[in-house]
Amino acid sequence: MSVLLEIKDLKVYFFTHLGIIKAVNDLTFTLQEKQTLGIVGESGSGKTLTALSILNLLPPKSKIVSGEIYFQRENILKKKEKEFQIKEVLVKHQNLNLKTAKDTAIDLLKKVKINCPEKNYFNYPYELSGGMCQRAMIAMAIACNPVLLIADEPTSSLDVTSQHQILELLKELKIQNNLSLILITHNLGIISKMADYLLIMYAGRMMEFGFTSGVLTRALNPYTLGLIKSSPALNQNQKRLFSIEGQVPDLINQNKGCIFSNRCPEVKEICYQNIPVLKLVENNHYVSCHLY
Ligand SMILES: Nc1ncnc2c1ncn2[C@@H]1O[C@H](COP(=O)(O)OP(=O)(O)OP(=O)(O)O)[C@@H](O)[C@H]1O
Ligand SMILES: [Mg+2]
Repeated sequence: MSVLLEIKDLKVYFFTHLGIIKAVNDLTFTLQEKQTLGIVGESGSGKTLTALSILNLLPPKSKIVSGEIYFQRENILKKKEKEFQIKEVLVKHQNLNLKTAKDTAIDLLKKVKINCPEKNYFNYPYELSGGMCQRAMIAMAIACNPVLLIADEPTSSLDVTSQHQILELLKELKIQNNLSLILITHNLGIISKMADYLLIMYAGRMMEFGFTSGVLTRALNPYTLGLIKSSPALNQNQKRLFSIEGQVPDLINQNKGCIFSNRCPEVKEICYQNIPVLKLVENNHYVSCHLY
């Protein structure tokens, strides 16, 4: 298997009038071809900004201040704006006449299993259900045969049945089109069924990374353990769900130690002093924590 995406020491900051928000710090991971990476973490942990960095779509006032992003072995941060226009897409678009474009669009709607695609092709988004809109979004995303699909909370506003259908669709499309997938969600239950690799983020930092099965069954970081304990899907026997006490820290005035130190049940003196570095603890299982 070869590496499709490699991120090294990525830092993304927001420059606001209140100060510099260090939204993503020292993020490092790789994604192989045809694999699924799940990214999980509380709100504000930097998941979406990580995804947007890969797409060169960061919002105003934010900037990649350092790091490297290799996509198919090319450092995409060294590319000029013009090179971001995907040539193949343009060629394809130019070559399609209106009739072929319509047929292709209907085929895509079929592919994502929208009922009556010939009829729904003419509908506006407000005439479709949430699940159908999500399918249409996926159709747009795969229209130009990408090798990587990034799904940022693809099921968060859907009912359980639609959620299940969308996830099954993603699985199918991934196999049919040899896609790699980055799946961002708060739901560890979904990750356990979908992702080969799991990245746990907290307040812009990488807490743990490894094979999903390894991270979920032998979680090392107390933050990951807290997330697992507070996941209804993984803790069906618990009467009352656990919750991690405290709140995500201020990203402008960060402590000098571990970003999780003020909430960590295992905190030690060193955790207030130094930021833990990412360590390889066992086969492909990395953790940032002073306990290791
Ligand atoms: N437009 C913005 N302006 C200023 N700060 C922002 C902006 N967008 C994001 N941030 C900062 O970056 C941090 C990470 O944001 P991001 O959207 O990546 O979080 P997330 O992990 O995707 O959260 P969620 O689970 O809520 O989607 C936020 O906590 C916030 O401090
Ligand atoms: Mg987000």
